[in-house]
Amino acid sequence: MWRASVLTIFPDVFPGPLGASLAGKALAAGAWSLDVVDIRKFATDKHRTVDDTPAGGGPGMVMKADVLGRAIDATAADERPRLLLSPRGTPLTQARVETLAGGPGVVLVCGRFEGVDERIIAARALEEVSVGDYVLSGGELAAMVLIDACVRLLPGVMGAEASAAEESFSEGLLEYPHYTRPQLWEGRPIPDVLLSGDHGKIAAWRRAEAERLTRERRPDLWAAFLQRFRSGSRTG
Ligand SMILES: C[S@@+](CC[C@H](N)C(=O)[O-])C[C@H]1O[C@@H](n2cnc3c(N)ncnc32)[C@H](O)[C@@H]1O
Repeated sequence: MWRASVLTIFPDVFPGPLGASLAGKALAAGAWSLDVVDIRKFATDKHRTVDDTPAGGGPGMVMKADVLGRAIDATAADERPRLLLSPRGTPLTQARVETLAGGPGVVLVCGRFEGVDERIIAARALEEVSVGDYVLSGGELAAMVLIDACVRLLPGVMGAEASAAEESFSEGLLEYPHYTRPQLWEGRPIPDVLLSGDHGKIAAWRRAEAERLTRERRPDLWAAFLQRFRSGSRTG
């Protein structure tokens, strides 16, 4: 079973949205497990202190290495990757999500305040992962993003297995547009080709739209796609 362990000082916010919809059903059905660890339980003083002032001065507080170390040691004695959610980490991609979903699970450390004492990162071999180039108040939402992205790829979790293969990023392209009834809404029709019943034409239209959207919106993805396509045609 795919296992997620989350270390946080806000255990009550879990499972949150992970308890709803397909991920929630799969959690209830035992297709994956969520173990939420309250970092504060590993503090030793009577106030359950998890943070302290930054060495060298400056604003904010820093999560203590000794407390985090005990929390990690009590949780992560297995081969799962240990990830620290961090805005300075490697950006999370669908390719990485697929790798993580294909493994035994994840151990996720949620930072708060100004972040964590740097020494815990090397001492417990934490890999820093970012969910985007913006700063959240804490790692909890980022952990939920990562878990949700992984869990929906687990076998049996998503209703139509085929939909994962056609989604944005699956081939390095953004997904084509979707429509549903009514056929005409506020003067806007569904494109004729989608009503033609011609599956070949529909597939070609979707592919062309996926390429157009990627080219227009994400020149970075489009360049990488062309690069792969060209090297694929040279070798193939
Ligand atoms: C207020 S942030 C700390 C920001 C830090 N002082 C900086 O400037 O990089 C507190 C915690 O939120 C989490 N966090 C914030 N933004 C994130 C992001 N983009 N991706 C992943 N985690 C994030 C991290 O766990 C971080 O330790």
